[in-house]
Amino acid sequence: MVDSLKKPGFEELRPGIKVPAKETILTPRFYTTDFDEMAQMDLSVNEEEFEALVAELRNDYNRHHFVRDQEFEQSWDHIDGETRKVFVEFLERSCTAEFSGFLLYKELSRKLKDRNPLLAEGFELMSRDEARHAGFLNKALSDFNLSLDLGFLTKSRKYTFFKPKFIFYATYLSEKIGYWRYITIFHHLNAHPEDRLYPIFKFFDNWCQDENRHGDFFDALMRTQPQFLNDWKAKLWCRFFLLSVFATMYLNDIQRTDFYEAIGLNTREFEYTVIEKTNETAGRVFPIILNVQHPEFYPRLETCVKNNENLRAIDSTNAPKFVKTLKKLPYYISNGVQLAKLYFIKPIDMTTTHGQVR
Ligand SMILES: [Fe+2]
Ligand SMILES: [Fe+2]
Repeated sequence: MVDSLKKPGFEELRPGIKVPAKETILTPRFYTTDFDEMAQMDLSVNEEEFEALVAELRNDYNRHHFVRDQEFEQSWDHIDGETRKVFVEFLERSCTAEFSGFLLYKELSRKLKDRNPLLAEGFELMSRDEARHAGFLNKALSDFNLSLDLGFLTKSRKYTFFKPKFIFYATYLSEKIGYWRYITIFHHLNAHPEDRLYPIFKFFDNWCQDENRHGDFFDALMRTQPQFLNDWKAKLWCRFFLLSVFATMYLNDIQRTDFYEAIGLNTREFEYTVIEKTNETAGRVFPIILNVQHPEFYPRLETCVKNNENLRAIDSTNAPKFVKTLKKLPYYISNGVQLAKLYFIKPIDMTTTHGQVR
């Protein structure tokens, strides 16, 4: 009885099946793309490197990695209250993000199978990994007596259409940022085992190598299409995607500081590390990266954090909808202004360093 009082209530679709978190601009997105354009892509410019990456994926290094050990076999009721809530949210977000990768890669592999077999195989192998990741996270959710109905999620979510070029920028970044997130958490918990609340974090080392390989796959794939990387439009779009990926993560995570603190991390320090590393990594293939050391970079993101707090506070009142909208307007405008100003911070040109040892 006492236990159930301490457990935060989650809305359920059916007993034990969690209602998916409400979709917002900050929740993981599901993508679809122009399959014909993708099928017609000529890989010859960078085919050798690309083939080598597909061969790496074929090796399936993590075939035996995702096996739950004894440490999972215990009650997790001692993770309770707010910690339990943020923990379950973390698992859900991660599971949704992994699953959205699975769906996209699987669909691509099916649609390209006959027309672009090498590309199709790469996507098939990555979907294998993402299915494992999502399944492992969903199993973890079941330790908290919840799970996600992935079939329901497939049907109920809205899909965002992106041209292949934008799929490449966005998924490349989400794989690399995923890599840096997992590895940073892993290293921290390796140094501070007392903060390792739950055994899933032990798996993050080999796990993040999957994400790293996925990122490298897109790196090599983008190099087969140099027109996606070498003109002024590419510079503007890379800037846009870098900023949106960083801002989304920052706003999401700062809102969930409790989770990072529960595993002994300083959330802001964590953000600085992940953003800096991902930015640096992206510079190996993107023509520009962001100047994240610029004195205005984080203060502007912090203004957005405050705006979002205000937006949520307004949302939680009982005021009529139009009053809420009116009250929210200045915060939306301010967010727009902050993001525009962030976008116009002069980026760092990377084209001169390309071609040197990677
Ligand atoms: Fe993954
Ligand atoms: Fe991945």
